[in-house]
Order: sequence, then C-alpha cells, then structure tokens
Amino acid sequence: MRLDVVTIFPEYLEPLNVSLVGRARSRGSLDVRVHDLRDWTHDRHRTVDDTPFGGGPGMVMKPEPWGEALDEVLASGEGEPVLVVPTPSGRPFTQELAVELAGKPWLVFTPARYEGIDRRVVEEYRQRCEVHEVSIGDYVLAGGEAAVLVITEAVARLLPGVLGNAESHRDDSFAPGAMANLLEGPVYTKPPQWRGREVPEVLLSGHHGRIARWRRDEALRRTAANRPDLIGRCAPAGWDKHDRAL
Ligand code: ADE
Repeated sequence: MRLDVVTIFPEYLEPLNVSLVGRARSRGSLDVRVHDLRDWTHDRHRTVDDTPFGGGPGMVMKPEPWGEALDEVLASGEGEPVLVVPTPSGRPFTQELAVELAGKPWLVFTPARYEGIDRRVVEEYRQRCEVHEVSIGDYVLAGGEAAVLVITEAVARLLPGVLGNAESHRDDSFAPGAMANLLEGPVYTKPPQWRGREVPEVLLSGHHGRIARWRRDEALRRTAANRPDLIGRCAPAGWDKHDRAL
C-alpha cells in the first residue's frame, strides 16, 4: 500500500518510522511519502492560510497550495488514489472504515491546521477520486496530523504480513464475527499469582469451551459497563442462549 501525507509539519509524522508502521515500511508492505505543503507556495513567507470570508475567528488554509500539491502527488502514481481528509466534522473513524481503507492500494492524507481547508478543495477532488472526510472522535485537535497517525496505525496493522500473528486481529474489539460489537475482556499472563492476585481459575483449566464462555461473559460485562450503546448493535443472530442477562 502507498500512503502520501501532505502537511505543514512533516516532522509530526516521524512516528511513522517507528514500531509496526516503521517495520511495515522497511519490509516493503508500506510505501510512505510525507510532503511539506509549503513546497507548493510561491511567496517569500510560504503562506498557506488567510482570513475567512464572512468574518470570524481563526484562519483558513488557502486552496492554491493544496491544489498544486495534490495535483502533483496524484499524478505521481498509478492506480486509484483515495483521499482521506481528517476533520472533526467528518464521518466517525471506525474499525469498519479501517478495514475498508486497508483494502485500497493508495491513500493520500490531507491533515489541516487552523480552521480547516477552503471547502472548494474537497469539492474539486471529489470530482476526481474517492474522498473520505474522517473524524477520529468528538473532540477538536490542533491539527489533523495526530489523526493521520491514528488512522495509519489502525489500517497498517490490517495489511497482510504486517502483524506477527495473522490471527491477532481476529478477536479485536470491533472485529467482525461472533464477538462483533463487544469489547475485549481482560487478559492475563504469567505469573499465575502476582501481589496476592490470582489469574481466574478457568483460564488455567485448559477447558476450551469454558474459557470461550468466560471470555464472552467478560466481554458482555465490560461492554455493558463501558459502552452500553454497543450492546444494542450486536446482531440478534450473534446472541447466544447462554448469554447472561446483565
Ligand atoms: N482535526 C481536528 N480534530 C480532529 C478530529 N477529531 N478528527 C480528525 N481530524 C481532526
């Protein structure tokens, strides 16, 4: 998969050299290219923003540098690019969208600063490619770069060969399947006793059926406590006759 990021803070994307995404890059599963938006300005101050039409606080990112940058980036590859525009007014980023984006060959991110990018930029590129305006949560960040890091990590770990164990995202909270829309329950490792605290006996029993039942009960309990909104979203077909009334 190819990923391009156009930003006024290329150094903000340095974490893409580290850990899972960094390893995926060095193994060749990910081709990441970070571009400085100011390279497409033409004035002495390398200006990327201006005051909003209609008045109001803050500044708006000018369309011209974005247009020149995106024209050049989009012309630099083959295949269908998908534009990902991080914005608090976008559609919520979910595991489902991560899976959808992981199936694309080429993502181009446009993290904005200030009050956002002149609207005509999204309108222009909607004519030319698939565009997703995406929010990573109901809060406002100082810019979209942190959102790019979040989305990239969620997508990259779904790419074939990126996670050590191909099974390890099968049971993720939010993964499709029997446990869809249930949060993952607690996990334990050695030692079996720590500071007087015991690992639940069932996990040491070797009884796969009882372990699966216990995990599901814990997932249901945790979901009801932390995300009651998700319980209603579990497909009725996913309910099991042993599921306890919570
Ligand atoms: N930019 C600022 N806040 C954001 C958010 N919540 N999600 C995505 N991009 C953003």
